[in-house]
Amino acid sequence: MSMMSNVVDWIDRRYPMTQVWNEHLAQYYAPKNFNFWYYMGSLAMLVLVMQIVTGVWLAMSYKPDAELAFGSVEYIMRDVEWGWLIRYMHSTGASAFFVVIYLHMFRGLMYGSYREPRELLWIIGVLIYVVMMATAFMGYLLPWGQMSYWGAQVIVNLFSAVPVIGPDLGVWIRGDYVISDVTLNRFFALHFLLPFILAALVFVHIVALHKVGSNNPDGIEIKKGPKGNRWSETAPADGIPFHPYYSVKDIVGVAGFLFLFAAVVFFAPEMGGFFIEYPNFEPANPLKTPEHIAPVWYFTPFYAILRAVPSVAGSAFPGVVAMFASILVLFFLPWLDKSPVKSVRYKGTLYKVLLGLFVIDFIMLGYLGVKPTTDLYKFMAQVGTIYYFAFFLAMPWYSKMDKTKPVPERVTQ
Ligand code: HEM
Repeated sequence: MSMMSNVVDWIDRRYPMTQVWNEHLAQYYAPKNFNFWYYMGSLAMLVLVMQIVTGVWLAMSYKPDAELAFGSVEYIMRDVEWGWLIRYMHSTGASAFFVVIYLHMFRGLMYGSYREPRELLWIIGVLIYVVMMATAFMGYLLPWGQMSYWGAQVIVNLFSAVPVIGPDLGVWIRGDYVISDVTLNRFFALHFLLPFILAALVFVHIVALHKVGSNNPDGIEIKKGPKGNRWSETAPADGIPFHPYYSVKDIVGVAGFLFLFAAVVFFAPEMGGFFIEYPNFEPANPLKTPEHIAPVWYFTPFYAILRAVPSVAGSAFPGVVAMFASILVLFFLPWLDKSPVKSVRYKGTLYKVLLGLFVIDFIMLGYLGVKPTTDLYKFMAQVGTIYYFAFFLAMPWYSKMDKTKPVPERVTQ
């Protein structure tokens, strides 16, 4: 023991190890009323690490070459020791990442976690989300299957719809006039790089979180409340040390998550074509367009918005603008909500109904984005798109007129 404390002491004189441990774990006081929704942050970190580890191991046998890529993935699946497991963990992990992040963001919407003083924390979160989307998009090209190829073709062509610079922009992204070996090579390089940028952004996200402290399901600022708990006289009365209380709680979340994750990896890795689309079991063929091209499920709400907006003079540009705007609007959320209270618990019926409808709307758009367009589906996507934007843009107005309930002084259990 004394040797151990000698080592710690030696390090502490050269590096603030114990200080960081205390400030961010053992003496970091988090609200004592965290619930299920607060598992998602730690789960997102777990999935990020898992994606990096499985990704690096995939890269050891993968070949970023249009002639070899598809075959190298089959080689990983059949011949590389445990390669099938590494690949299915990575492909399932991509979907799991978005499931976890959508729940994480929904928690923010419920409890007003984007409100003052957490605006920057939220903005960094949205930035993380954008980088995640870019990473997933580039990763999907790598198996060089039919959907990899044609999905990338469709999405990169969207950039070509930008007036004036569009066509050049498309060539600049692809490095060619069509998706080709050059595109595959650069997407591989960027797909390898971006997860490390994500890790850096997550670090900044946590630094921002610890500067202001966590929100909680009541939306009460525990730092502004009474002081003094059984560990410290100066700590917030409603705070408990992150370690061991929440470190142990998060392990429960990890166990539950891994149980579900393993069930998918071992029994349904394609998830009925939602996690790995069936046309992707065929090698990319630039001469044969699949009957129906749809992105993976986590992109489809935005894809539905893109297709809902009519083209003008044969240009899909208005749809492209709507699609990017639907993500950009998230950056402004902290300033759109004018409610006097943060948490949905103390907001009125109006917000509860509108938020519930927003969830239904987002799922409906996701479903419509997977399906081929019909007149009815197009109409539904248009209604869904209008509601999506109205939810955010009308917020300054409805959040002010909603009848709120009084917020208690202390957090409730
Ligand atoms: C790689 C992705 C991400 C990771 C690893 C991550 C990690 C975390 C962690 C560990 C926490 C603290 C625990 C918790 O509150 O659950 C947290 C809190 C938070 N995150 Fe994230 N996050 C990610 C993405 C995002 C995104 C995309 C957003 C929003 C657009 C976001 C917004 C927030 C907010 C507002 C909080 C504070 C919540 C509160 O205190 O109520 N995060 N994040």
